[in-house]
Amino acid sequence: YEEYFKEEYFREEYFNQVLDHFSYNSLGNGTYDQRYLITDQYWKKGNGPIFFYTGNEGDTWEFALNSGFITELAAEQGALVIFAEHVGLLTVEQALADYAVMITELKKELGAQKCPVIVFGGSYGGMLSVYMRIRYPNIVAGALAASAPILSTAGLGDSRQFFRDVTTDFEKFNPACKDAVQGAFQTLNTLAQQKDYRRIQSAFSLCKTPSTPKDIHQLNGLLRNAFTMMAMLDYPYSTHFMGSIPCQGLGLVACETMLNGTDLMSALRDTVGMYNSTGQLTCYDLYSLYVECADPTGCGLGFDSYAWDYQACTEIEMCYESNNVTDMFPPMTFTEQQREQYCSKRWGWCRVQGDLDTASNIIFSNGDRDPWANGGIRKSLSPSLIAINIPEGAHHLDLRESNPADPESVIVARKEESEIIAQWVKAARKKSS
Ligand SMILES: *[C@@H]1O[C@H](CO)[C@@H](O)[C@H](O)[C@H]1NC(C)=O
Ligand SMILES: *[C@@H]1O[C@H](CO)[C@@H](O)[C@H](O)[C@H]1NC(C)=O
Ligand SMILES: *[C@@H]1O[C@H](CO)[C@@H](O)[C@H](O)[C@H]1NC(C)=O
Ligand SMILES: *[C@@H]1O[C@H](CO)[C@@H](O)[C@H](O)[C@H]1NC(C)=O
Repeated sequence: YEEYFKEEYFREEYFNQVLDHFSYNSLGNGTYDQRYLITDQYWKKGNGPIFFYTGNEGDTWEFALNSGFITELAAEQGALVIFAEHVGLLTVEQALADYAVMITELKKELGAQKCPVIVFGGSYGGMLSVYMRIRYPNIVAGALAASAPILSTAGLGDSRQFFRDVTTDFEKFNPACKDAVQGAFQTLNTLAQQKDYRRIQSAFSLCKTPSTPKDIHQLNGLLRNAFTMMAMLDYPYSTHFMGSIPCQGLGLVACETMLNGTDLMSALRDTVGMYNSTGQLTCYDLYSLYVECADPTGCGLGFDSYAWDYQACTEIEMCYESNNVTDMFPPMTFTEQQREQYCSKRWGWCRVQGDLDTASNIIFSNGDRDPWANGGIRKSLSPSLIAINIPEGAHHLDLRESNPADPESVIVARKEESEIIAQWVKAARKKSS
């Protein structure tokens, strides 16, 4: 459905972008084609605001087609919509500069010099929206940052928070669910200690017999990652975002599956059936379905995963650990030292942070069900740094298009966001006139 209609929503364009904004001397004046999607079907030409999505790691179509709220809002407020793709030299600084140049140039090209720009983003894209407003307040009038874990990714959080919150999600459905998961990992752990690798293979339908502690570690990581994905994408309806999440009420279904089985390990295998959402796998391959990287919540697969791994090493810090005490997962540490060891072997090094003290006009929205939420801003910091919390929300649910299954809390949040953004646009217009 989405594939079929996607060309009707957006036009795909390329922007001739500066390759390196900061080292003119070393890289010269090279350029590359930066992809963006645009629709002016709702735009009050030359006057309506510009809603600019600061693209994430990954294919921009994926985000455009899963952020329908922005186009709905554009229809309401007569806005031009642009979804920009993040590539460049893969640093936050370069991505921000890319967006700044693109916005400035496109405004000229489109006769939109007077149009206030509001940036939007979910997750890492939301972090970029925050940083855009901080770095380029002259270009961007306001930012809606949905599910943007700007504190924890700057090393300012509790390393136990993420997997604790994943656990809480499942515990809320049924406390027995947490015990069952913990029990299954315990059984796995015992078998691994006894080196009963064949039983582990058969219980988890693995393609190859595991043979080392490293294989077991990988299996634990793969299993834990399935729960992470289920918690993040626990939307009130099914979705194909970030791979395929087959059914709604995921926590509930996962818990039921976990509690239904007679054998805990097989129940755990069935629970992580999301790896087999196509129904085509005859067995699970440990190393191709999940890749361990500098983001313990998973980097995804394929080319995009390298880019994210690189960023997780260089700028976005995610030292989250599970410990089987504050969460239901086996102890798996990921300390700053481990990160440094892994990253220096694999890539290079550096860092970015924004200063919120002097910032304004940013909405930080978060869903209580989203394990990323508590790594972000949960309380308003000032009258214009506004936290909006969505009790039934998962990972940037508010950015998704309206759906009959939406809980009241996300409907209320979107309405509030819409009103605040309209105010920003109005104020920006007053200021420039
Ligand atoms: C880039 O630099 C080269 C050589 O210095 C010059 O000939 C060319 O016109 C420049 N291109 C742009 C787009 O400025
Ligand atoms: C998790 O902790 C429980 C005690 O609370 C213990 O019995 C179990 O062995 C631990 N599991 C793992 C995988 O370490
Ligand atoms: C759990 O078992 C019950 C009874 O056998 C069945 O009706 C239900 O569909 C099962 N749930 C899941 C998620 O497998
Ligand atoms: C994948 O799903 C199909 C269809 O439900 C099932 O027949 C198959 O056994 C599953 N594979 C694994 C490894 O569980």
